[in-house]
Amino acid sequence: MDNNFIQRVLDENKELASLPQTMAEVIRTARDENSSAEQLARVMKRDPALTARVLRMVNSPFYGRSRQISSMTEAVVTIGMRQITALALSTSVYQMTDSWESGLDRVRFWRHSLEVAIAAQAIAEKAGYRNGEEVFAGGLLHDIGLLALEKSFPEQFGEVWNRAEREGHLTELENEYWGTDHAHVGQFLLEQWQLPESICTAVGRHHKVFGPEDKTPELIPCMIVNLAHLVSKFSISTELAISSAILVNKEILRNSLDIPSTDLLTVEKELFSRTMAEASYLEIDVGSIDDILLEANRMLFDQYVTVENLLRELRDLKSQVARYQTA
Ligand SMILES: [Fe+2]
Ligand SMILES: [Fe+2]
Repeated sequence: MDNNFIQRVLDENKELASLPQTMAEVIRTARDENSSAEQLARVMKRDPALTARVLRMVNSPFYGRSRQISSMTEAVVTIGMRQITALALSTSVYQMTDSWESGLDRVRFWRHSLEVAIAAQAIAEKAGYRNGEEVFAGGLLHDIGLLALEKSFPEQFGEVWNRAEREGHLTELENEYWGTDHAHVGQFLLEQWQLPESICTAVGRHHKVFGPEDKTPELIPCMIVNLAHLVSKFSISTELAISSAILVNKEILRNSLDIPSTDLLTVEKELFSRTMAEASYLEIDVGSIDDILLEANRMLFDQYVTVENLLRELRDLKSQVARYQTA
């Protein structure tokens, strides 16, 4: 990746490179080993809107806590400093980028991002990975590089996006135009914000195709966000999102993360209602019911086409085997 290029983009775009002041201080405090939970809570409370959003998140049904958490200190103590920071960051970035002019459909963008975040956290739970809130943040921010590229090169980005909608291969087109792609731009941006490495790397590799040989403990958060991305049904673009290659990649990641197929199915089944419920808690606009129904219809059609294609592939394979046997 050409870091100099991305650095130049960020240098010219101060709004992109800097986080809201409270958030930057939250990250600094959380990274300092000598900080206490009280200190972190105190820094966060300087921003009452942020405090309210984080408390709403930790009390949402998604977390299924039996007891109401009513203060920031209690939230930090119960959930942990790193995790609370990841949650605070997720909601801050949404608020920050909400005011940016964008040709990208923001409702689709955040609906997809939130779905990946929720899937990542649910997958983390099934895989026994403890830092669920970090993969949540990774999921929510995984496509942030798209917003960064669009903000920096609005016209070119429009061109790339329209071509990708017609031809697919978004990351290849991005590489053709800028010598880098939105996954790497996102990773670089989050590194500038000094986020935990696990979040940055997961964002940078969300389009990587993992093989069975990639099963290493350091790659677990990356694989979780990657699998969440494959499980997610709401896409930002309108191109067909499902293929047999995706099904194969999903299977490899599920095996590498040691998740039984019934568990992954449960995650997929619950994903839609969880995304909708969480959106209202986080005050993320994911669109009207009409919008969502239309999208659900399109997804059903996608799945129908995929099943048809898979059946065709299977038939071809069977006749090849039969020919081989009689030869
Ligand atoms: Fe992406
Ligand atoms: Fe994505």
